[in-house]
Amino acid sequence: MSKKSTGELLAQMDHYGSRHYARSSVCFAKGKGIYVKDTDGKEYIDAASGYGSVGLGHNHPRICALLRKLNAVDKDGWGVVGIVPNVHPTPQLGTMLEYACTKAFGYDKALTTNGGVEAVEAAIKLMRKWGYTKKSVERGKARIVICEGNFHGRTTTVVGFSSEPTYRENFGPYAADAFITVPYGDYGAFAKVMQEDAESGAPTIVGFLVEPIQGEGGVRIPPPGYLKACAFLCEKNNVIFCADEIQAGLGRTGYLLASWHEGVKPDLVVIGKTLGAGKHPVAMVLGNDEHMVFTPGDHGSTHGGNTTAMAIALEALAIIKDEKLCVRSAMMGASLLHQLRQELSCGGAAKIAPLVRGRGLMIGIVLAPGVDSHMVIDELLKNGVMTKDAHNVIRITPALIITETEVKRLAELIGKTFAEIALRTLPKE
Ligand SMILES: Cc1ncc(COP(=O)(O)O)c(C=O)c1O
Repeated sequence: MSKKSTGELLAQMDHYGSRHYARSSVCFAKGKGIYVKDTDGKEYIDAASGYGSVGLGHNHPRICALLRKLNAVDKDGWGVVGIVPNVHPTPQLGTMLEYACTKAFGYDKALTTNGGVEAVEAAIKLMRKWGYTKKSVERGKARIVICEGNFHGRTTTVVGFSSEPTYRENFGPYAADAFITVPYGDYGAFAKVMQEDAESGAPTIVGFLVEPIQGEGGVRIPPPGYLKACAFLCEKNNVIFCADEIQAGLGRTGYLLASWHEGVKPDLVVIGKTLGAGKHPVAMVLGNDEHMVFTPGDHGSTHGGNTTAMAIALEALAIIKDEKLCVRSAMMGASLLHQLRQELSCGGAAKIAPLVRGRGLMIGIVLAPGVDSHMVIDELLKNGVMTKDAHNVIRITPALIITETEVKRLAELIGKTFAEIALRTLPKE
C-alpha cells in the first residue's frame, strides 16, 4: 500500500468515500492498548474505542497471537479453513457457541451474525416468528415495543422506528403498525401499552426491545428497577424481553451483561462490538429453546459464523474472564466518574458540562444547551483524547483494560480541555 500524507488521505476519502459520515480531519494509523496514533505520529487516548467495540484495547497480545495462528499456512499451503457453507459445522463455530451458551451467558442456543444490527434483525425475526407460532398472534399483526431515543443500528427496519429524524426520514416506506414507541425509563407508559394489548381480546405484542443503557441516546440510564419491572411484566403477559446489549454488554458497565445489574436475565440478548476484539466484526443473539424458534431456511448468512470471527469471539470472551475485565470496568469506571465529576465541578467547566453520568466505563458528559458537541470533540482531540458525541453528550468509553494511572491522566486531560473551552467561550465575569 502506498504511503500517503494525511492531506492526501483526506482528499482521497473526500473524493471516493460515500458522504454518510461528517469526516474528521484526523486519520488514525496505529493502536496499542488504550492508545491510538494518527498518521502524523501524534498519540491519543482512545476514549471512543471504536464506538465501544475495542473493549480489550487495540491489538491485545492474545488476539494478535491468535490471528497469526489463524493466518498461518504450513509448508504445503494448508491453513485453517475460513468460510464454508454454514450447513457444515467447524470446530471454531461449535466451540464458541458452546462456550457462549454454557460458560459465559447461560442460554440454550446462540446465533452468530456479522455485525450488531444484523443480530438485532435476527432477534426481531425470532420475536415475530415466536409470536405467530407460539403465541398464536394473527399472521402479519405482530408488534414490538421499542423505546424513544433508541439506537439499534441502520437497516431499513431498524431506522424505521428510530426517533432520530435524520436516521429515518429519507428511507421509508416503513410498516406503520409494526413497532410501538414508549418513553425510555417510563414503566407506567410501558405498562399502559401492555395492558391495552392484553385487554384487546387479541394481543399482538410479541416483544419488548430495549437497551439497558442507551448509548447513542446519550448514556441514558433508566431509573433503578425499570428493567426488572419491565422484564416481570413481559413474563406476565407472555411477551419476549429482548435486551440489546451491543453497546452496554461484555463488561462495559461492570457486569458481563448490563441487565444483570438488576438481576434480569433477558429472554433474548443481543451482543456485539467487543466480541470482535476490535479486529473482526461479529455479533450474536442468545436465548433459550422456547424463543430460538428458527428452523432450516428461516435465516442465513455467508460470513456469519466464519472461523476467524468465531475464534476471535471465543478468545475475547476468555480474555474478559481471565483478566477480570468486568470488575476492572466497574472499579476503573467508578474512579473515572468520580475524577471527571471533580474536574468538571468548578468554574467555567461546570457551566459547559453541568452533569457527568455513567455506569462502569460507559460515561457521558452532558453538555449545557447550546454548547457545540463537535467543537468539544475537536478540542479534546487537540489535547490528545478521542471521544464520540451522542446528541448533546460526550461519550467516554475507553478500553476495559485501562489502568488507574491512565484513568487519572484521561480525567485531567478532559478537565483541562473543558477549562480551556470555558476560558475561551464564556463571558468574563
Ligand atoms: C445498542 C446498539 N445496538 C445496535 C448497534 C448496531 O451495531 P452495528 O453498528 O455493529 O451494526 C449499535 C451500534 O452502535 C448499538 O449501540
